[in-house]
Amino acid sequence: MPRKVSYGVDYDEDYYDYEDYDVDHDLYVEENGKLPQSEKETINCGIWRCSVCTYDNDESFSACDICGVLRNASINSGTNSDKKTAPFKFDVPSPDDLVSDGLRSSKMGLKANSTDLKTSRVSSSINEKNGVLSKSSTERSDSSSALMPKGRHFSRDKSNHLENDMGNTLSSDKSSVCSPSLNLKGRNDKIDESSSSSMSGGNPQSLTNSLNKMDVNVGSGLSKNVNTRVTRSKAEYKPEKWMLPDQAEDTLTQLNLAIVGHVDSGKSTLSGRLLHLLGRISQKEMHKYEKEAKLQGKGSFAYAWALDESTEERERGITMTVAVAYFDSKKYHVVVLDSPGHKDFVPNMISGAAQADAAILVVDASVGSFEASMDGGKGQTREHAQLIRSFGVDQIIVAVNKMDAVDYSNERFDFIKQQLGTFLRSCGFRDSSISWIPLSAMENQNLVAVPSNVCLLSWYHGPYLLDAVDSLQPPTRDFSKPLLMPICDVVKLSSLGQVSACGKLEAGALRSGSKVLVMPSGNVGSVRSLERNSQACTFARAGDSVAVSLQGIDGSLVMAGGVLCHPDFPVAIAKHLELKVLVLDVTTPILIGSQLEFHVHHAREAARVVRILSLLDPKTGKVTKKAPRCLSAKQTAVLEVALQGPVCVEEFSSCRALGRVFLRALGRTIAVGVVTRIIEET
Ligand code: GTP
Ligand code: MG
Repeated sequence: MPRKVSYGVDYDEDYYDYEDYDVDHDLYVEENGKLPQSEKETINCGIWRCSVCTYDNDESFSACDICGVLRNASINSGTNSDKKTAPFKFDVPSPDDLVSDGLRSSKMGLKANSTDLKTSRVSSSINEKNGVLSKSSTERSDSSSALMPKGRHFSRDKSNHLENDMGNTLSSDKSSVCSPSLNLKGRNDKIDESSSSSMSGGNPQSLTNSLNKMDVNVGSGLSKNVNTRVTRSKAEYKPEKWMLPDQAEDTLTQLNLAIVGHVDSGKSTLSGRLLHLLGRISQKEMHKYEKEAKLQGKGSFAYAWALDESTEERERGITMTVAVAYFDSKKYHVVVLDSPGHKDFVPNMISGAAQADAAILVVDASVGSFEASMDGGKGQTREHAQLIRSFGVDQIIVAVNKMDAVDYSNERFDFIKQQLGTFLRSCGFRDSSISWIPLSAMENQNLVAVPSNVCLLSWYHGPYLLDAVDSLQPPTRDFSKPLLMPICDVVKLSSLGQVSACGKLEAGALRSGSKVLVMPSGNVGSVRSLERNSQACTFARAGDSVAVSLQGIDGSLVMAGGVLCHPDFPVAIAKHLELKVLVLDVTTPILIGSQLEFHVHHAREAARVVRILSLLDPKTGKVTKKAPRCLSAKQTAVLEVALQGPVCVEEFSSCRALGRVFLRALGRTIAVGVVTRIIEET
């Protein structure tokens, strides 16, 4: 009999039994912290009793045949599940609200520099299209492809393989799902070195203080914190003058705009059409796409081909990796992140969404298509909206596309607005932060000018799409914090032994010659040169997406999912984390021992739920139940996960970009949340 896992059983019927069965573990925990005999896993005559559902399993099973809980899963709730937790407000108005207000102070809200962002469509920080370095002369890092979902190498088969691995069993062959094993010793040595060097010239008192603080935390009954990393407080960081944008700089603010939505809703067609209308794709290039698309019997995909450049994408008529392109509006230098809509490529979509300041959610207005995209099981409209919201994006434009297919019907538009609006509000989007734009990418209606269609004009008098983009609020940037750049891709120039790390600067700034700490390897290198939009540039600041050519570092140590940071402010590396999560519309509960896929910025790892500490009231954040047996849809909870390999991560309260997480299983996102505690650093 095949091993059943936590997602292999229909729990709908049994769920309430679990609730009835639920016990407060604290009542059963003996003073020495061990469970009383009755609660322990019972081993008797070749069987062992599951500690959760009490089913007697065969000795050979490593997980419960009924509920999937691992045989040795810890169910000791500990005494810290009653920790005071800040309200988790996914409903109102943003996940970011759970951080303390004081941390907002360093955000300056100034314009990001975009001096060098002039040229047309492209790619590169995320995929290979017109790569930063020419395709023929580059090769992708093997280490990066194993760690991060990206690139043309991330085929559907591989994706399925991953999802299957994650959903069915935590394969012992880590290479199939996880990052390559890391040289932890070397890394720690380096971290210590850099930390001590930063401390040696600094105030020894601060080390004592931070150790004292640690003691306070441990004594407070929260999760045991054996965090031994010594880092300088970010408050000690003083940015240099060139790192801060000059108010007088006459440049457009960069806006990273994710184009998301269900498969085939028209995201690439819309992006391609916009780029063409705004002069980023020449008439000659457009003719070429049209001709080639027609030749392959896919004439309707001509605009999408501007973004979908790989043979596989074109043959299948779907986007598989995020494509990056650029255009200028009146107010912004817009970086378009055209995401894949197919459910197999959600991990790639996540990688793009992680960089977004705002999003266009494209929905297909056609009868049946919109409904299918909203389907909880198969539709991606809801999942994408939830993901983008939990990345901290709170401004969204809903492009109701293919209005030509419904004769530009006002009723249909209102129906979609009403249905989707209810859902978006439940994700935490405010009405005032949602723009609804009826349009047709195919017929060029309402994109960059007032529509010409008489029917649409008769009832729609709002802004066109480009106007709506200009109405978005400028993003705030962490210019005055130490450098942080999660690496989304690595490009190697094998002939010259050069390596470039690509990604968006979440904080700080870089220029040629800047020293950077490459994590998780812990090695220091320096910036040889910088490229933005395939153009050399002299510096990059928070918010900019760049390719950073590095020198003085072994290319194999630079990997997607890693982070470039300031040498004195290393990011944490950990595999044991406490999370606060909101469970999405799952049909099977999350249990202790559940095997999951853990995503944080561009890294992902296999993970296991080791404890469920508490259920929280989503409105007040107060603990409503300690040590629940399982988590079901829409519940907010604090839990602990153990990752199979370490990731670069920060607590959300100190760095949002590195503290937002997603849990996935069986090809679906099952929970979104934040890192509340790094329980143990690697
Ligand atoms: P994925 O990236 O694979 O999720 O798809 P997508 O959302 O990028 O859709 P894509 O742009 O590839 O378009 C899918 C199909 O929808 C193509 O056949 C397009 O021609 C068609 N399409 C896109 N926009 C419109 C539109 O405004 N009207 C009509 N009728 N068809 C459209
Ligand atoms: Mg597409």
